[in-house]
Amino acid sequence: MKLNHLALFFSLVVFLTISVVSHAGVTSSYVRVAEPSEEMALEVFPPPSGYNAPEQVHITQGDHNGRAMIISWVTPVNDDGSNIVNYWVAGTNETTKLSVEASTTSYRYFDYTSGFLHHATIKGLEYDTKYFYELGSGRSTRQFNFMTPPKVGPDVPYTFGIIGDLGQTYASNQTLANYMSNPKGQAVLMVGDLSYADDHPNHDQRKWDSYGRFVEPSAAYQPWIWAAGNHEIDYDANIGETQAFKPYMNRYNVPYKASQSTSPLWYSIKRASAYIIVLSSYSAFDKYTPQNSWLESELKKVNREETPWLFVLVHAPWYNSNNYHYMEGESMRVTFEPWCVENKVDIVFAGHVHAYERSERVSNIKYNITDGLSYPVKNPSAPIYITIGDGGNIEGIANDFTYPQPSYSAYREASFGHAMLEIKNRTHALYTWHRNQDNEPVVADSLWVKNRHFLPEEDEAVSV
Ligand SMILES: [Fe+2]
Repeated sequence: MKLNHLALFFSLVVFLTISVVSHAGVTSSYVRVAEPSEEMALEVFPPPSGYNAPEQVHITQGDHNGRAMIISWVTPVNDDGSNIVNYWVAGTNETTKLSVEASTTSYRYFDYTSGFLHHATIKGLEYDTKYFYELGSGRSTRQFNFMTPPKVGPDVPYTFGIIGDLGQTYASNQTLANYMSNPKGQAVLMVGDLSYADDHPNHDQRKWDSYGRFVEPSAAYQPWIWAAGNHEIDYDANIGETQAFKPYMNRYNVPYKASQSTSPLWYSIKRASAYIIVLSSYSAFDKYTPQNSWLESELKKVNREETPWLFVLVHAPWYNSNNYHYMEGESMRVTFEPWCVENKVDIVFAGHVHAYERSERVSNIKYNITDGLSYPVKNPSAPIYITIGDGGNIEGIANDFTYPQPSYSAYREASFGHAMLEIKNRTHALYTWHRNQDNEPVVADSLWVKNRHFLPEEDEAVSV
């Protein structure tokens, strides 16, 4: 062979090797040491100073379209005015302040009595506008602000952060700091497992308080869209606590009635160009149940010409190749996957498994009791499944992947981190996963996501 033929031959070998490798799933060689994550002590998060100062402030969308905000906070006592939120448009005269009264609850859990939990819904907000809001009175007054989303429409750019299984460890702290260091994030999609209070004796409810203080620097300034995980159930018959989700539902209000849901555990919102459906892995979902009936009618309401992007949040993943919690989401996958494929859901985000994984677009919906067709196949109408239970938790990283890596698994890594989803227009969104590495967020997985309604057949391309 002449020299130029040899060069051509070797180039061809290299090209073919790259082609083959690029179609295989990747198990990242970056593996964090699997130690339990150490939790930050209660003393790290003291209540704010001042008499009856409002604390644990967090906000979430308060209606279906983004023109309302639910403001939630806690006060130690319930004095007159403790339940008032004052708000005004940034830059306007403060004499134009408006105010809303919160509804106030308190709950008991074993030997713990909560502070006064206030939830106020501010309605009739202008789109794409900065608001200030104020809680408390006198020297204990605290001021915060938020941006309302742009008016719902098909080409409205918007950036979501995605966080799961956050907890309140030093790793959680790094994840939250990394997310907050990126100015692009406008709202957080939180796929469940918040405080991990239930990992402590008698579900130490003070950990729900410290969690509220921990996330306040982000959650008081931009909405966190909450989904419930197994650590929100707080069911413990041994201590007489049999009302599932009691602490979570007292502390975190969501606008479920705006989507005709009958439970805060499943609901939907529209935000900018996205339609977001939140499901509950730990509530009944079989045929004839409220969640099942709701989702069936809900999917019919999605107008992709108005909100091209359709996302589902759920806690237990439907596609995941980690031995940790392997197939716990299987029964819900069997129930809801055909609808997600039929309705061309763009991405299903889940948590629960304390590692990161992204799937190919695959479906496994052919099976019936006799035909034996029970394996995932490539399907351009299928969602991408992203498991992002890597927020920090308290139980450590899940570094026990199944081998060989299944064909549906595109990228997986046992590290902590968070993701960003930058919607650019009706056809393209840039998705990036940021691992916590050496106290820095490092982009380890990145993808241009092609919208399933407007670009139904186009493959995604890894962007870096
Ligand atoms: Fe979980």
